[in-house]
Amino acid sequence: MQLASFSLVQITSIAMSVRIILIEALYSIYVLLQILVYPLLVVFAIVEVLKRWFRRLGCSRMPSLCGEVALITGSGRGLGRETAIALAKLGCHLAIVDIQEHLANDTAQFIAENYEVNTRAYKVDVRDYQQLLDLRERVTNDLGDVTILVNNAAIITMSSIDDPPVHEIQRMININFTAPVLTTKVFLPKMRELNRGYVVNISSLASMYPHHTFNVYGASKAAVRHLTSALRTELLEAKSAVKAITICPSFLTTNRRVNDVVKALKLNRILADLDGEVVAQYIVEAILRGETEITVPHCFIWLRRIVATLPAAATERLMAFIGGLVDPKCRENELAQALRTDDGVPFDS
Ligand SMILES: NC(=O)c1ccc[n+]([C@@H]2O[C@H](COP(=O)([O-])OP(=O)(O)OC[C@H]3O[C@@H](n4cnc5c(N)ncnc54)[C@H](O)[C@@H]3O)[C@@H](O)[C@H]2O)c1
Repeated sequence: MQLASFSLVQITSIAMSVRIILIEALYSIYVLLQILVYPLLVVFAIVEVLKRWFRRLGCSRMPSLCGEVALITGSGRGLGRETAIALAKLGCHLAIVDIQEHLANDTAQFIAENYEVNTRAYKVDVRDYQQLLDLRERVTNDLGDVTILVNNAAIITMSSIDDPPVHEIQRMININFTAPVLTTKVFLPKMRELNRGYVVNISSLASMYPHHTFNVYGASKAAVRHLTSALRTELLEAKSAVKAITICPSFLTTNRRVNDVVKALKLNRILADLDGEVVAQYIVEAILRGETEITVPHCFIWLRRIVATLPAAATERLMAFIGGLVDPKCRENELAQALRTDDGVPFDS
């Protein structure tokens, strides 16, 4: 009896192994087919790269953004504010959206005083779908239909997974990832109807390089990259002229939390200062040149492509090695202190 049940276990296990082999064999055929069309994809990629360089060298006509209505989330300060100013210089009317009302008012006032465009400030929590629906109505009445949506609002909590409290992790996912999903749902239909417009999603280089310091933050930004890429396929399939663009900047000097961590890791000695103004210029150029996904600086995209050819285990070892170079004393003191910096964004207001 015991012998029979033993062999039954063995038979079940062999049957499962055979099933797995068959599944792998079936899917290997699809991989093989993909390898066969690979040369075609390479030709397509070369054409796309040449087209992009052609545009970057200024050889093709750029669209005019004058008179378009741009809505930028988190534009009360930092990169969002600088992007609003850069778009105002091109003649866009601006909806300045931020959870911190005084910051939104300040940006709107600055733009109104310096540029001849219409500007309004809106206090909105981008996590709240109802507030976004109301926002669409107010902006449409005040400025017109939104044709440029920049999803910039985010919080940057840097720490390993066991460190921040659960509500802070959930808050970060909701602001960084859920909010762009909701704003796209609210503002994209009109752009599709008009058959013009741009959805610009601010991701981060942290979405491409796994490291525990950017654990949930990096994952939320990787989700934003994926979301934008999927949206592009949808727009292409629908032959829509609306563009979806992903921006992946390196460390900026805009956020106090990030600045403290960069200083604690002594990265400021080897990194160039990327302030909001310069990154805003990359964003505006990406819109004008019809880019799909850019890194800031541009050349970092090649690092990602090289790393992407390696097995994940190799990248993870590399990142762990780089992290291990940090002086353990710094890790305990300065870095730990920097990771606790407050980002100044109110929790629930
Ligand atoms: N700072 C960096 O080093 C860095 C690097 C790569 C990518 N980024 C990305 O760039 C973007 C801007 O970064 P930053 O450094 O200018 O940030 P920041 O913290 O200076 O500004 C973020 C703004 O978003 C607003 N905001 C936060 N929660 C909100 C909410 N629920 N509703 C509405 N507004 C809200 C804040 O009030 C603030 O004005 C973010 O998407 C960030 O992830 C930043």
